[in-house]
Amino acid sequence: MKFYLAPLEGVTGYIFRNALDAYFPGTDRYFTPFIVPDQKHALRKKELRDILPENNQVKELVPQILTSDPVRFVETAKALAEYGYEEVNLNLGCPSGTVVAGGRGAGMLADVEKLDCFLDQIFRDTDLRISVKTRIGIERPEEGYMLMKIYNQYPVSEVIIHPRTRKEYYKGEPHLDVFSELLAMSKHPVCYNGNLFIVRDYEQFRARFPQVERVMIGRGVLADPGLMQRLKSLEHAQKTGEDSDRKENGMEQSGSEIYRTGKQELRAFHDTIFRQYREIFDEDKNAIFHMKELWSYLVHSFEGSEPYAKKLRKTSSLNEYRCEVGNLFRACDLYPDGPVQWRP
Ligand SMILES: Cc1cc2nc3c(=O)[nH]c(=O)nc-3n(C[C@H](O)[C@H](O)[C@H](O)COP(=O)(O)O)c2cc1C
Repeated sequence: MKFYLAPLEGVTGYIFRNALDAYFPGTDRYFTPFIVPDQKHALRKKELRDILPENNQVKELVPQILTSDPVRFVETAKALAEYGYEEVNLNLGCPSGTVVAGGRGAGMLADVEKLDCFLDQIFRDTDLRISVKTRIGIERPEEGYMLMKIYNQYPVSEVIIHPRTRKEYYKGEPHLDVFSELLAMSKHPVCYNGNLFIVRDYEQFRARFPQVERVMIGRGVLADPGLMQRLKSLEHAQKTGEDSDRKENGMEQSGSEIYRTGKQELRAFHDTIFRQYREIFDEDKNAIFHMKELWSYLVHSFEGSEPYAKKLRKTSSLNEYRCEVGNLFRACDLYPDGPVQWRP
């Protein structure tokens, strides 16, 4: 199994990715949050900083592009090739109102003829490998079948499927029945993405889809940064037979107990990210703002964290922030099996 970190705009920039890789290795491939080319620039300053090889210590990084203009896509892909990238990912999933209104992201799924033309042009004019990250439709999950027929016509390097429609945003259960059909239809390698939050979710998915060899995880890793590492250990244990030995010996542990995320490591991970945010942002309040975004997920791994999380959300100065983080780490223990009570 290959594990991919999903891109989350505003959270999974290079500082987060490097820290995750250093403290909780286990992710095989990382994706940048979307790059949006504009009239003047293939890559804007912040986007360039995010993809610069000297800023990225992870082994495999795939930059993601969000545009409905094939010329801009090709220009950006070329600019990325100059920095050594060999693959780019096309965003066909972003559900946000402004993005969709501009006919980009999930908005590109509304007009399949136009999508077909777009793909025709970018595959003709781009030398790099192109993968797609797609939803399964705008309104109805069944739209996915037509989309898959289109992807099958092009040399897509892999199709990452988030089996929800645009209308569903990130809510509700992913359509696993439709995913199953799309998996059978696809000529390309398929990666699954959606709602794998804890080890049990992964185990259930694996049991239903043993043929899937790639999964992408987003919010689950933000809530529990050790998740990939645990899943990797679980896979390893199953491969080497350790898991069945343990079961035979009456040890009921799930994969989550093979490796527990320590509070100390999590603290070091947090401090590394915060220190680097403070270095790149002019003001501490911007660094704190970005940390709070991460905390909105991370708090779910701590037992009884709600009162501390509330105080943390209200902080604005460096001292307050440090103090509330310290309080939370001191007062709350991590759930031993990850954020089991959390369903976003
Ligand atoms: C705040 C936020 C930002 C996101 N930014 C991106 C993005 O830049 N590119 C992208 O392809 N998907 C983006 N996504 C979608 C995630 O990559 C992923 O598909 C989604 O969270 C479902 O996976 P999960 O259930 O494992 O979190 C974003 C999602 C959220 C909640």
